[in-house]
Amino acid sequence: MLQKLGRNDLCWCGSHKKYKVCHEAFDNKILAAKRQGHLVPNHEIIKTPKQLDGMRESSKVNIAVLDYVGEHIKAGMSTEEIDQMVYEKTTQMGGIPAPLNFDGYPKSVCVSINEVVCHGIPSKDTLLKEGDIVNVDVSTIYNGFFSDSSRMFLIGEVDEEKRKLVEVAKECMNLGLEQVKPWGFLGDVAQAINDHAKANGYSVVKEIGGHGIGIEFHEEPWVSYVIPKNTGMMMVPGMVFTIEPMINMGKADVYVDAKDEWTVFTKDGKPSAQWEIMVLVTENGYEIMTY
Ligand code: MF3
Ligand code: CO
Repeated sequence: MLQKLGRNDLCWCGSHKKYKVCHEAFDNKILAAKRQGHLVPNHEIIKTPKQLDGMRESSKVNIAVLDYVGEHIKAGMSTEEIDQMVYEKTTQMGGIPAPLNFDGYPKSVCVSINEVVCHGIPSKDTLLKEGDIVNVDVSTIYNGFFSDSSRMFLIGEVDEEKRKLVEVAKECMNLGLEQVKPWGFLGDVAQAINDHAKANGYSVVKEIGGHGIGIEFHEEPWVSYVIPKNTGMMMVPGMVFTIEPMINMGKADVYVDAKDEWTVFTKDGKPSAQWEIMVLVTENGYEIMTY
């Protein structure tokens, strides 16, 4: 929580500057919002410049792995092969795949095809086929810093309906991104996303959202994409979180596979698409850490 610091004390952010010339005004702004009843971040999730550098390095590895997958992914390949690619590329670059053993997750990456919404577990029995839309969600630990991002891939010729879903899901992510600015609210991001999905006849998954990230894989805040603007946590400079809405062609309802306890499916069996980026709130707007 916001601690009481003297104006001439050293700032809590590690800058070695006096509080009064560093984060005092910042803290007062947050306190004022809190008094008005808004949800505000605590200092633990405000990243220091040093931490941000570490996260940028981690993000570079994460993106290189996704690029590598993008160069090789093709029809006939098993999702297990994607897992191997991710493991090998990540470790070659000195990183650790963050999903591996996370909460008992058995693989290095999530690969979610068509009606799989997210957290698809790679398997040698799951083959990519012409016409599939596939989300590959890569997360990396590098020097102790976490990064996370995902992209959709089209396998061969994909029908118009699914291509549009993938396109609109990307637009949703970008419209959400445009709402990222200091002293705005996570609900601004959510509403931009939800409005665009609805305008296209799609729905946004409610139960699974984005998250803060950096020192841990999943940090505060939890990021919903279905709340209204001007609600949810206030965005402040130094906060990093993911924008990763899951957009369903049909209804928003999902369920988790009872056997593996990970794979999330759409209830109506219709396809779902997701893009994920990691975003830093800056003094003037945002910086994309993974794209
Ligand atoms: N990359 C996923 C996310 O965006 C992480 C899922 S947890 C895992 O949050 F264990 F399945 F990797
Ligand atoms: Co994520």
